[in-house]
Amino acid sequence: MLKAWSDAYRLGIPEIDQQHQAFFEAAHRLYDQILNCEGEHGVEDAIAFLHRYAEQHFATEEAFMRLHGFPGLEAHNRLHAAFFESLDQLAYDLEVCGPSQHLADRALAIAQDWLIEHIGDEDMLYAALANAHAGSDT
Ligand SMILES: [Fe+2]
Repeated sequence: MLKAWSDAYRLGIPEIDQQHQAFFEAAHRLYDQILNCEGEHGVEDAIAFLHRYAEQHFATEEAFMRLHGFPGLEAHNRLHAAFFESLDQLAYDLEVCGPSQHLADRALAIAQDWLIEHIGDEDMLYAALANAHAGSDT
């Protein structure tokens, strides 16, 4: 199910929050493009965009975690790598099977639902550390 972006997903780190919101929008575009059957290229482009966007976004997060000496960096990076595996598998299945409601739902689970869960369970951990650092600077 498409969910609207919500302030509940904010970490309080403006650069990363903006990227999460754009990531969310890219997930919705991918869902729409699969359902509207905007041709093979529309779906391919939406996946390619999400892939590129995730690369940039994860690089921002990883730099941020490194800056704050986040001890869970490696485990967090493995979750990012798993995201790409799921996205690549989806791209393959779309190529083989063609667009369907089932694959649109899977795209949403991989991108939107994954992101919501990832923000709440994982990104919150480095955000808490960064916010604690910010608090101790004052
Ligand atoms: Fe992350």
